[in-house]
Amino acid sequence: MIDRAKAEGVPVAALVGAKEHAVKQVHAGVDLLIAQGAEAGGHVGEVSTLVLVPEVVEAIRPIRDVPVLAAGGIVTGRQMAAVVTLGAAGAWTGSVWLTTEEAETAPHTVRKLLAATSRDTVRSRSRTGKPCRQLRSDWTEAWDAPAGPEALPMPLQSVLARRALARVDKLAEAGNAGAQDLATYFVGQGVGLMNASRPVREVVREMAEDYLDAVERLGRSLSD
Ligand SMILES: Cc1cc2nc3c(=O)[nH]c(=O)nc-3n(C[C@H](O)[C@H](O)[C@H](O)COP(=O)(O)O)c2cc1C
Repeated sequence: MIDRAKAEGVPVAALVGAKEHAVKQVHAGVDLLIAQGAEAGGHVGEVSTLVLVPEVVEAIRPIRDVPVLAAGGIVTGRQMAAVVTLGAAGAWTGSVWLTTEEAETAPHTVRKLLAATSRDTVRSRSRTGKPCRQLRSDWTEAWDAPAGPEALPMPLQSVLARRALARVDKLAEAGNAGAQDLATYFVGQGVGLMNASRPVREVVREMAEDYLDAVERLGRSLSD
């Protein structure tokens, strides 16, 4: 796939959650790496963004100069400034957009996301068969309980869960309380910083202002 993309002049990025994977991807010829920490929404590894980003940057340095974007838990400009200080070329975000006015996220999910704290996510195999960070719910609790069944390997767990969760979402949207408790959605620990539904334009402006404030604060730390 990389050869085909290169032949067509298309840059190739790879998303990794461990430095060993980053090294493999650089040897394979990718143009860009996304180092995604365990705080992120979706399929994740076990290493936090704060540790993974410098680990990846250092591991690939002797091989080849490949820009690294940091991901996982990043919702604010100050976190973007933080990952740049860790050696990242920039930030890659996912969860933060789920509660924007332009997002296609279902209204009952948005309400759950806005109410959630950073401790309300869980890394669970109950949705896809691979460890995947999402909202903790009656669904994830039931599958992850010691007496619960083992999740099936990917892709079989998705085959099993997709229909049931689609029905849960439909009933939750109609106001069914049990379904609302079962409903879950891919989201990272940054959900604790997502407390209002706003237009994307406003989120981006605030990120830029917060980034500048953080960089100024960092500059002042040298002179103070
Ligand atoms: C709802 C959702 C769906 C995602 N789907 C994918 C996907 O299909 N492929 C992928 O490589 N990453 C996927 N991700 C991970 C994002 O690309 C990104 O790395 C991650 O959201 C960054 O962490 P954050 O959620 O803390 O911002 C998804 C993330 C979310 C929140």
